[in-house]
Amino acid sequence: MADRPRIILDCDPGVDDAIAIITAARWTDLVAMTTVSGNVDLDKTTANALRIRDLMGLDVPVHRGAARPFAGEPFHARYVHGMSGLGDIDLPPPSVSPDSDDAVEVIVETTRKEEGLHLVPIGPLTNIALALRADPGIAQRVASITIMGGGASGGNVTAAAEFNIYVDPEAADEVFRAGAPLTMVGLNLTHQVRMDAGHADACRGFGHRVGDIAAQLIDHNVDVHALGGLPGSGAMHDPCAVLAVSHPEVIRSEHRHVVVEVEGRYTRGQTLVDERGRMSRDPNCRVAYEADADRALELILQAVREAPNA
Ligand code: BDR
Ligand code: CA
Repeated sequence: MADRPRIILDCDPGVDDAIAIITAARWTDLVAMTTVSGNVDLDKTTANALRIRDLMGLDVPVHRGAARPFAGEPFHARYVHGMSGLGDIDLPPPSVSPDSDDAVEVIVETTRKEEGLHLVPIGPLTNIALALRADPGIAQRVASITIMGGGASGGNVTAAAEFNIYVDPEAADEVFRAGAPLTMVGLNLTHQVRMDAGHADACRGFGHRVGDIAAQLIDHNVDVHALGGLPGSGAMHDPCAVLAVSHPEVIRSEHRHVVVEVEGRYTRGQTLVDERGRMSRDPNCRVAYEADADRALELILQAVREAPNA
């Protein structure tokens, strides 16, 4: 397909990351996947990216990245994604090792060889910040950095902070100040795109292995949202960032100035959105506000239905 956006997916699979990989395989040209410590440790996020690649028979390199945030200790979300990071799904270990251990170098070199790529980080921003430190010119060479993280209305780890920003606020701060064409697909948006048992059944009904795995992932996501006090359906965070690139018409966004709180007694990791221009600073970010949820869900389901089968 000629006009699919070409992306590097920086991920920490992660139940919804796995659905994002399936979505990206259908609607983008996946140039590479890079992995980062986040939902689980780096060995597991890397293994999980490889397991999903094996499942779909994708011809996409997987590069291992940062094992720890800039400051403090790694923080994981096993309480959401399970010990393996992919719930309890039934997938074999990866068939091969990652293509390299140098995700940061790959991001730098790939964006040097080809301008106009989209970086789509759907985990903590450690790799992206390291790449921008190594080569600040990335900010001018990419078509966008479209992140799933943060939000305009509160957090999910603390009252203020969303997980991907909370894990590495210093890295996020550098990314938001890099001068790149940035889009923030945060919790205020992703909670509009919810999958439930009916979506899992639809995936099972496709009659192939990727559909079965997607169904298990969706069921797991529904269960953990119920445990967290949101019964019935689970927000499908990470695929929304992919769709913001592949189908921008599905997600309405506005230019805003956004800063990351790196101190804050209660607010470390908050993405503070200057809704009224009180900071007198130019916008540095497109903030996603409104999703055409029905269309987004259709696109995710279509990606599962039409997934390449290993
Ligand atoms: C984000 O945090 C992770 O747990 C998910 O994979 C998603 O990227 C949502 O806050
Ligand atoms: Ca993620």
